[in-house]
Amino acid sequence: MQSELFKLNLEQLQQFSAAFETAIVTGLGREPSPLKMLPSYLSAPSGNERGTYLALDFGGTNVRVALIELYGNGRYAVIRNREAPLRTNNYDYTAANVDAERLFDFIAGEIAEIAPVGDILLGHTFSFPSRQTDINKAFLISWTKELKTAGVESANITALLMDALKRRGLVNVRPAAVINDTVGTLLTSAYLNPHTDIGSICGTGHNTAYLEPDYFPVPMIINLESGNFDKLALTAYDAKLDAQSEKPGQQLLEKSVSGQYLGELLRLIINDLIKHGHLPALESARLNKPYAITAKDLSLLIEAKPLDLTKTLNASEQAFIQQIAALLGTRSAQLAAATFYGVLRRIDPKVERRHHIAIDGSLYEKMPGYAQTVQATLSALCGSSAATVSAGLIKDGSGVGAAIAAAMAQK
Ligand code: GLC
Repeated sequence: MQSELFKLNLEQLQQFSAAFETAIVTGLGREPSPLKMLPSYLSAPSGNERGTYLALDFGGTNVRVALIELYGNGRYAVIRNREAPLRTNNYDYTAANVDAERLFDFIAGEIAEIAPVGDILLGHTFSFPSRQTDINKAFLISWTKELKTAGVESANITALLMDALKRRGLVNVRPAAVINDTVGTLLTSAYLNPHTDIGSICGTGHNTAYLEPDYFPVPMIINLESGNFDKLALTAYDAKLDAQSEKPGQQLLEKSVSGQYLGELLRLIINDLIKHGHLPALESARLNKPYAITAKDLSLLIEAKPLDLTKTLNASEQAFIQQIAALLGTRSAQLAAATFYGVLRRIDPKVERRHHIAIDGSLYEKMPGYAQTVQATLSALCGSSAATVSAGLIKDGSGVGAAIAAAMAQK
């Protein structure tokens, strides 16, 4: 493998951002575009939203439920919360042999554990491409991140949730808003910092939302579903991963950027290096199992921590794998940052105003060097306007954002 394969120079990143900006414009105009440009029916919060709300966060790995109190003036508290995995050794609610009813009954069971007795509004973060017709009605376009549960694609997500709440006897819990996690991240950051106009997730999945100032009668937060952007040069490894994935041809940017896929890319690369005699055969069963190497493994490799995978290798072979892991992480951060610059160019062509980009997700939070590469790439792309643009981690955005959305819906 030539390491140049995964390296991007500034000119390539500039071209990539320009193509991204073009896709935003064509997508808004309802011309064919890889960007779905999904309206959220929400604008920026005022920061004075108040009250107690239930938040449900469904992103594909865990179900999280929380009781959240918004105090106004950008302040909030998580009063109670709980989290349950969607997949364990005993069950898998993301599998094709599970249907929507069983999945939503599981979710309603989690809500029952923390719901108060009296009437309460619920905000639902549903982190998949969904076409909304208003703030509380979303239809799943198609699963991403390798989920397969039957009967959810094309369905009305709020109706599935309400039916399950009813079956569970939770008629006091009233769904009021449904949002994407990128929208929740943007809302939570904007609740505190009015300069926030972009929200993004760099985690298991990758996607971005932004506040579109002009196109609609009022400013509107749009979920780009940027993971589906497709104007990027794929390596043979990217192409192979895509061909073997659940939805070939879809979510190409996500397949090069997000945590769901980075470990699998590394697995394909290592197997190829072994096949061509550039590495000795490794004694890890994980190399034969799709998706058995994770983004967490990449982080450990980047930090030069010992891993079962590499323990039989000598120091220079280990350093070689470490370098590939770092290259994959760097490419991911650079591509994400280049899309942010494409959004900035759309909303402020000369990037003259102040902008804050709120980012959540395991890669941004935990992968060594990731946040720094996002920042460095943004600075390089913004050039002389770099000082007006900031980016930073925002935690709890999916939960708190759902509560803020429910408060905004109530108004
Ligand atoms: C996937 C989903 C998108 C979500 C992202 C991060 O890209 O399609 O809706 O925002 O993952 O969770």
